[in-house]
Amino acid sequence: MTRRSYTRYTLRLERPGGAAPRPQPEPTDDWSGAAAHKRAADPQALEYVSPSAVRDVLALQPAGWQEEDEGRRLVFWLEDGAEAAAAAATALRRLGALGRLEVERERPGWEDAWRRFHTPRVIGRLYVRPPWYPARDDLLDVVVEAGRAFGTGAHASTQQCLKLIQSVKVGSLLDLGCGSGVVSLAALRLGFAPVTGVDVDPVAVHAAAGNAARNGLAPTLVVGDATDPTFRLPTADVVVANIALRPILRLAERWSAAPQGDGARAHGGLHRRAAERPPAELVLSGLLVEQAEEALAAFPGYVERARMDDGTWLTLRLSRAS
Ligand SMILES: C[S@@+](CC[C@H](N)C(=O)[O-])C[C@H]1O[C@@H](n2cnc3c(N)ncnc32)[C@H](O)[C@@H]1O
Repeated sequence: MTRRSYTRYTLRLERPGGAAPRPQPEPTDDWSGAAAHKRAADPQALEYVSPSAVRDVLALQPAGWQEEDEGRRLVFWLEDGAEAAAAAATALRRLGALGRLEVERERPGWEDAWRRFHTPRVIGRLYVRPPWYPARDDLLDVVVEAGRAFGTGAHASTQQCLKLIQSVKVGSLLDLGCGSGVVSLAALRLGFAPVTGVDVDPVAVHAAAGNAARNGLAPTLVVGDATDPTFRLPTADVVVANIALRPILRLAERWSAAPQGDGARAHGGLHRRAAERPPAELVLSGLLVEQAEEALAAFPGYVERARMDDGTWLTLRLSRAS
């Protein structure tokens, strides 16, 4: 069997020395894979690494990709020939305009090195691992191969969600922005049921379905925009939303428009969105530390139970006030 050949691309997103600062793109709702940086720690650092760069990298369908240097460097591998397609050439040109793009022939065996980079994580009672590591008997096993989706378990926001749901009473759970499905699968392992994962990106839902099969678990997985009022969200006791501030604010609007409390369901015929009663428990993530007050203010009917942050990324756990 002939071994495939690959080229390694390294995109350095930092500004070239002395050059005028580039205008920063507005952070978008689709920030998958992007990292935030504190200006105080490094005045040269971008507040956000370009989400459009991450999108272009993923559109190339790389054999592997990773963020380095807190997201200022994107490294990805393309199988030989992939770069020749017209769409790939356009994406590479766009990436080249965002920073310095270095291209290097990859040594045989890089796949093994890349796999070594993706290591298992112990998060409370959970063991989140790539498929090439063995399970552990003493922890709840969650196998995740993120592929082109977000959610290997390595990102701080994912880890905070996984930690905080372990203190929530089990019940039905809705995972908004499910990415690779890591939260949905962990929730099922922890005893939440039924579990529904929703993602606006069909590629993510495809990856989540593959991971569900790998784990022998069966969450309901749906493609949809959680902020679109015409997309009907299932009701759930617990909602985990690792999707950044702006979509979270839109969710708050959505739930504030719905009738409150169980009694509202009795008037289902009068309230078109009665099925969307606000969840009892919320885990809100993908937030930056400085966005805490804005996020909390959007949910006046809730009390804060816990929060976790790593200095940059913040996750809030809220309960509906009784
Ligand atoms: C940061 S990832 C979270 C993935 C996974 N839940 C985790 O915790 O690792 C955010 C995901 O939200 C999805 N997303 C962003 N906006 C969304 C929306 N309005 N509705 C549904 N999914 C959305 C993105 O496609 C992406 O897969």
